[in-house]
Amino acid sequence: MLNYIHDIPTKLYFGEGQIKHLDEILRPFGKNVLLTYGGGSIKKSGLYDKVTDILSQGGYTITELSGIEPNPRIESVEKGVDLCKENNIDVILAVGGGSTIDCSKAIATGVYYEGDDLWQMVVEPHGVLKALPLVDILTLSATGSEYDNGGVITNLKTNEKLGNSYTFPVASICDPTYTFSVSKYQTAAGTADIMSHIFEGYFSRTEDSELSDYIAEGVLKTAIKYLPVALKEPDNYTARANLMAIASVACSGIPAYGKQGTGWPCHAMEHELSAYYDITHGVGLAILTPRWMRLILKKDPSCAWRFARFAKNVWGIEGDDEQALALAGIEALEKFFEESGIPKTLTELNITDEHFVEMAEHANAGGYLKHSFVALTNEDIVEILKNSL
Ligand code: NZQ
Ligand code: ZN
Repeated sequence: MLNYIHDIPTKLYFGEGQIKHLDEILRPFGKNVLLTYGGGSIKKSGLYDKVTDILSQGGYTITELSGIEPNPRIESVEKGVDLCKENNIDVILAVGGGSTIDCSKAIATGVYYEGDDLWQMVVEPHGVLKALPLVDILTLSATGSEYDNGGVITNLKTNEKLGNSYTFPVASICDPTYTFSVSKYQTAAGTADIMSHIFEGYFSRTEDSELSDYIAEGVLKTAIKYLPVALKEPDNYTARANLMAIASVACSGIPAYGKQGTGWPCHAMEHELSAYYDITHGVGLAILTPRWMRLILKKDPSCAWRFARFAKNVWGIEGDDEQALALAGIEALEKFFEESGIPKTLTELNITDEHFVEMAEHANAGGYLKHSFVALTNEDIVEILKNSL
């Protein structure tokens, strides 16, 4: 088990009705609020009215940035930074899913960025930056952006979608009832994302971090239990609450305590797909993950023991033959995604092999994925992408 440092300064307000704390959370920072949101789901659900009522009653001045795209664009970050500077913003309130929160993190730090080109801030490797305080109200269980400092910003002109560290939210309000209105497609995609955050740590070369492995398996079992319920009964509180709780844990680093980093191979590949084709992150992950699993199992059969553990502990599959168990676990995962209504192939998303070689070069720049559970070469990545067609 490796050394680790745990430091997540975000305060989570979890559960129905926690919005009652919004005023007390914002008050210490000042009265000028930048309210950020996406394409309008919060207006349809009534959350926008609830939030603006609280802000008006509290005497806040609201500046709005709406229309933040899924796979948020650098142009939205630029707009947000301008609004903050023009309006002397004291605090950002992001209401939405991972895209709105990620974009708001980049805006919060972009305000203090000294260069001329904000895209450079996205590209440059850096730690947590100086930032305006950010508070969020989460409306989609998926990315874990509400409980980490990461953000992923897209530049469609250069076909780049890049993750970086920005700032932790000061506080995140996680009310499961705000996710009742999430579509079946986004609910399934979000859960696939949560599960992928676990896989990216669970399939690591560190073998003796038992606590992490049990936490990871618990998160996966929770996802497997409650996604079908949420799909059938969108307003089932228990299902939505469990999905929301695991979303925050899955991307927090906790399920990978003491484990060697892996470079997050499926995320590296998926971000390429989104950068070129603007697809839903979780859908790309659900398509790639079983193909990645099969390829690494074939490339290095000695890793079968871990897939066998996954099959036994997560899916409850029994048996003694490691290879057979490993394959059965992967098949169970594939079937689970299929039954959740997620497309099975990239072809269904109108993706061809046209850009696969450059995508592989970019995902694996500098041999980035050589420390993965099973090291990946550019050729391996192209094969995974082709097998996903
Ligand atoms: O834009 P609106 O109108 O709000 O609609 C959104 C959007 O169309 C809709 N939605 C959100 N909440 C809803 C709702 N619809 C109905 N009812 C609600 N309550 O869902 C659609 C997708 O929203 P989005 O925010 O894009 O989804 P998600 O939370 O999955 O975020 C995806 C982005 O996060 C990045 C992804 O790469 C992608 O860009 N990630 C961020 C991470 C992080 N910060 O740590 C880690 C992840 O691995 C991921 O890469
Ligand atoms: Zn993800």
